[in-house]
Amino acid sequence: MKSRQSWAELYALEVDRAADAPVFRQIYLQLRLAILSGTLRPATKLPSTRELASQLGVSRSAVVSAFEQLLAEGYAFSKKGAGTYIASDLPEPFDAVHGRKKRPASVAKTAASFRELGGFVDVTAQSDERPFNLARTLVDARTVELWRKLSARTLRSFGRHHLGYGDPHGMPELRKSVCDYLQAARGVRCEPEQVVITAGTQQAVDIVIRVMQGPDKEVWIEDPGYSLTRLALVTAGAKVCPIPVDQHGVNVTEGIRRAPKARAVFITPSHQFPKGVALSMARRLELLAWARESGAFIVEDDYASEFRYGGRPLASLQGLDEAERVIYIGTLNKALFPGLRLGYAVLPPSLVRAFVTARYLMDRQPSSLCQEVVAAFMAEGHFAAHIRRMRELYRSQRDTLVAALRHRLGDHLTVDPPDQGMHLVAYTRPGLSDVGIEQAALQQGVVVRAMSRLYVQAPAQSALMLGFSGYPHQVIAPAIARLARAFER
Ligand SMILES: Cc1ncc(COP(=O)(O)O)c(C=O)c1O
Repeated sequence: MKSRQSWAELYALEVDRAADAPVFRQIYLQLRLAILSGTLRPATKLPSTRELASQLGVSRSAVVSAFEQLLAEGYAFSKKGAGTYIASDLPEPFDAVHGRKKRPASVAKTAASFRELGGFVDVTAQSDERPFNLARTLVDARTVELWRKLSARTLRSFGRHHLGYGDPHGMPELRKSVCDYLQAARGVRCEPEQVVITAGTQQAVDIVIRVMQGPDKEVWIEDPGYSLTRLALVTAGAKVCPIPVDQHGVNVTEGIRRAPKARAVFITPSHQFPKGVALSMARRLELLAWARESGAFIVEDDYASEFRYGGRPLASLQGLDEAERVIYIGTLNKALFPGLRLGYAVLPPSLVRAFVTARYLMDRQPSSLCQEVVAAFMAEGHFAAHIRRMRELYRSQRDTLVAALRHRLGDHLTVDPPDQGMHLVAYTRPGLSDVGIEQAALQQGVVVRAMSRLYVQAPAQSALMLGFSGYPHQVIAPAIARLARAFER
């Protein structure tokens, strides 16, 4: 009730003394409109007549008259000794008085282009608790404890540098730690000046799109590929050119044939999303040579590279780039947890200023407090240890999931444990539709994403994508039993 009261105190009433309508009527009409439109909600306490009169610089009797009219018409009620409140049972609905507001055509059109994206937003927000949603992480007790300690330490020092505007590149200490980590773990060639802290991959992709200028530019995307990159490009008006992916990654020769003058290429070379293959060395070199000659940029989304379980690790594509054509994007939202909303981009020196300017215009800078906690977590060695522990945990969850799938659904699905990442791909036997299973599984409270949905032009393969990182062992077997029921249907 307290907070409701404060909203009414802040409501921006205006009185125009030069207007023909008397002051009391102006106050009455504005409050009535705010009540009917739901701006001020039922049960909200109105400010006292004395407070409101002094706030508006009018006589108290004018405010009293306005309130009396609201009370008489049933828009408000008074509680003895406790003030005046907005009624729950309003005398007339808003639509009856003002008609439903029509949105202008251009607004309606823009909204329509985003409407098809609604499904993603809902799936992401609503199914956190449902196995086997993608990209979820587990954070163990050790990391939770450390996070609490470091957050408390940061808050205790709560100083000027936390309170004001900070560096839009991101905090220098964090950029230095990210730079050291990427050099050591991913073979990225960079200086801290090239590292910009972002809110994660999604923001980095969005900034790159802005920096590329000319939204009508042609860009390659992987087919199948990461929907959120494709949709960010499509909604920005870019001309996306889907390039097929095979067991060696994106088909570079085909990309050059289809769109030789493309401005940029958005790819996941270490662990292609969703198929999980790595871009072969021959194709890496071919792509870099083409980018060098054509002047295109390669946007390398190196998501989930922290979680490698076997096989020969492939360093980043950026590390092979001699011509400053690669924009490297990484995220802490997977290495740590998605709610963190921190990531980074490593830019060719010539792009740093444009990228930071675009970022500044978007949301100025990352949160100072969050950055400081992560910077300490990295500098004090906890990040590397966290990755090591999580890698073991995710590996064992992956193995449990693969075993359960083979045991319960081996007749319907073919699954190999992936070498890297946080999800696996289970191919359906001929005749089964991944979309149908996805729907039936949802009825059983299990999220398995149909891979065929991620294809744009290439002939779609039917497979299910299951995230294994976010769901502990004890959850896996019962969820697979429910998934098996979906197959029976
Ligand atoms: C291909 C790919 N890149 C990046 C990300 C991470 O995105 P963000 O940092 O915006 O959470 C994801 C998460 O699902 C992903 O699947």
